[in-house]
Formats: sequence, structure tokens, C-alpha cells
Amino acid sequence: MTAVAPPRLSAGILTADLTQLGAELDVIAGRAHFAHVDVMDGRFCPQLSVGPAFLAAVASAGVPVDAHLMVDEPARILPEVVQAGAAIVTVHAEASRHPHRVLQELTALSASVRPVIRGYALNPGTPLGVIEPVLDLIDLVLILAVNPGWSGQAPAANTAGRIAAAREITLAAGHPILVGVDGGVTLRNAAEVAGWGPDIVVSGSAIFDGRDAPGNLAAMLTALRITPVAHTAASPGGTA
Ligand code: DX5
Ligand code: ZN
Repeated sequence: MTAVAPPRLSAGILTADLTQLGAELDVIAGRAHFAHVDVMDGRFCPQLSVGPAFLAAVASAGVPVDAHLMVDEPARILPEVVQAGAAIVTVHAEASRHPHRVLQELTALSASVRPVIRGYALNPGTPLGVIEPVLDLIDLVLILAVNPGWSGQAPAANTAGRIAAAREITLAAGHPILVGVDGGVTLRNAAEVAGWGPDIVVSGSAIFDGRDAPGNLAAMLTALRITPVAHTAASPGGTA
């Protein structure tokens, strides 16, 4: 098997103790590359979670924010999300009637307000071909290994193949496009997931499990073969 470069880690924080947000962010600051925040609207997925004010609070703590918008028609909140300081802003292919238009709006905000990594997420049942028409408008394809909304699910069996297929499609773009994976990454399967070659791995409840986040994070970094990094301002195309 060919050796693959270690991914960057985006630590999902919604299962952290949110009454101690600053202390929980201190656990990942300088160790994980991003704080992954699942914004859920109760429509795209049944759960309701947080919004732009929470993203701004996390960003103000100095950890680059990876905003995953599991939200129907996300164009309506994109200005607030970009203003909040997110480093990555990811919208779902399935969330809009006009996804190309949504990505045009995100691209315009990235140019006029502040640069962001423009992410495009695909649920496990969404054909990868939807990436092709928008390659010029994205910097990241986020492969959902689980159906959005519930933490602690097992990764879908098709995930490794979808990461490889997404990589193949993105090579046709005229600029670098990252491939990420989100959902069901645990201490048990993290080394295997890293071997699938993603550029970004999202892991939430395996790190913030309510017991030992620092220990879990250290074990996750080891499993992913990541050397802890100091944070720098994120920019499209990455800061690895
Ligand atoms: C899917 C979300 C994920 C997921 C991650 O609903 O986008 O970010 O909950 O959580 P874990 O790592 O707990 O599966
Ligand atoms: Zn997510």
C-alpha cells in the first residue's frame, strides 16, 4: 500500500461540555487544526443546534472554525457565517434547489468579506457526479460517512471508495481541492480512515466523549499520525 500524508484533524465540538466552552476549546487549541461545528436547522436534519453567534464565539477563542451547515437553503445565513469568522464554510449538495448559485454566493463572500475554504458536502447516498459542475467554486469536498444529524454512527461501507472517487474527480479542477471525511471516526477506526487518504478528518464524539477529551485527542492524533500544529490563519487551499 502506498503511504499517504497525514490528514488535518477537525474536532467536532458539539458533544463537548458547552457550559465550559473556553476550557474545551483549550483542549484542542494548537493540537487539532480546526474546531468542527455542526450547524443544524431542524429541517435539513431533525436536530437543531447552534448558529452564527456560536461560530463567532468559537472563532474568538482563536481556534480556526470549520462550519458545517446542515441547513436547508443555506444562502440565507452565509453572510453571517462568513462574518462570524469561519475558516471553512461547507454547504450541502442536497440542501438547495440551486446549489451552483449558493456556491457562487459563497465565492463572492469569500472574495469580498474574508477568504474561506469553500466546502461542498455530500451525504452517503448522493452521487459524486454532482461535484463536477461546481469544481471551479469549491476548495473542499466533504464526504459524509454517516447520514447527517446523529453523532456516534458507524461509517457507511462505501466511504473509502467515495473518498477515492472524489479525489479522482477533483483532479480535473484547475486548483487544489481538499477531500474530507465526516462522521463515525473513532479511536478504533481512525488509522484505517487515515489510510483512505483524506486531507481532513472530522471526529467529534470520539474526542469529546464526556470523560477524557485530552487523552482521546492525543490518541486520535497518534492514530492519524498527526504532529500537533500551531494555528495559523486558514486560507483556501489549506495551511498544512
Ligand atoms: C454528522 C455530523 C458530524 C458528526 C460527527 O451528523 O456532520 O460532524 O456528527 O460526529 P461523530 O464524530 O460523533 O460521528
Ligand atoms: Zn459535521
